[in-house]
Amino acid sequence: MTRIVSVVSGKGGAGKTTLVANLGASLAKMGYDVVVVDANLTTPNLGMHLGAHLFPTGFHDVLKGRATIDEATYQHESGLRIIPAGIGINDLKGADARDIPGALLDLIGKTDIILIDAAAGLGREALAAIEASDELIIITNPDLPSVTDALKAVKLAEELGTKIIGVVLNRIKRKKYEMKKSDISAMLDNIPIIAEIPEDELVQEAISVRTPVVQHRPNAFVSQKIKKLAANVVGEDIEVSKPWYQRLFNFFVQE
Ligand SMILES: Nc1ncnc2c1ncn2[C@@H]1O[C@H](COP(=O)(O)OP(=O)(O)OP(=O)(O)O)[C@@H](O)[C@H]1O
Ligand SMILES: [Mg+2]
Repeated sequence: MTRIVSVVSGKGGAGKTTLVANLGASLAKMGYDVVVVDANLTTPNLGMHLGAHLFPTGFHDVLKGRATIDEATYQHESGLRIIPAGIGINDLKGADARDIPGALLDLIGKTDIILIDAAAGLGREALAAIEASDELIIITNPDLPSVTDALKAVKLAEELGTKIIGVVLNRIKRKKYEMKKSDISAMLDNIPIIAEIPEDELVQEAISVRTPVVQHRPNAFVSQKIKKLAANVVGEDIEVSKPWYQRLFNFFVQE
């Protein structure tokens, strides 16, 4: 059975595209058949995270009825397949986000998991991604504006009856001014927090070389956290080793 999972945030810039690229690459490495879809039609950039942004045919063409979903699907070296969206302004003309759920129907039964990179906000584009999905991952940063918008996404999902797999906290810096996990959880209807991903420059470094960080630096703590989340999403479990500074601290404490 094909699962359709959207990553949504409400607030822009929380880390949706980064998470979709990295979850997709992690699941593909685990042997799952994964298709990642750029449903951020107005400002698409999933292709850039995955090393290619100029495709002859993309999701816009499928929405306009000019191409089949297969014609807009490309193999990525990590093993995942990507349906990119066209980055040109002309690509947008005539593409209607309301057609997203219908456009993905052709993939049902042909893959294990479809991961949708939703648009920011909770407007028509994001709503279409949610409507196309069976399940959602809500991603937020540990600050009040981000969590407030994540709450709106939670409420919307609840209204639509879409299952929420859990909340991902991204870009954790462990600063005093950040919201505490318990406060975030209380604000978000106690939906389980399924991953706490640290702020790490390696994520930006990986994007600059257009490679998911789990591929660019597979052993980095941030990558291990994302791989653990990927395993969790498919009901598997993997060990995460502690970050180097904690291992060093433990070493001296034990000595
Ligand atoms: N864990 C992290 N550590 C450091 N930087 C991060 C992390 N996660 C995301 N970023 C950075 O945050 C920025 C926004 O990430 P991303 O584009 O994935 O967010 P988004 O939610 O898809 O944004 P939009 O709403 O605009 O689509 C990027 O520059 C990315 O490099
Ligand atoms: Mg994005």
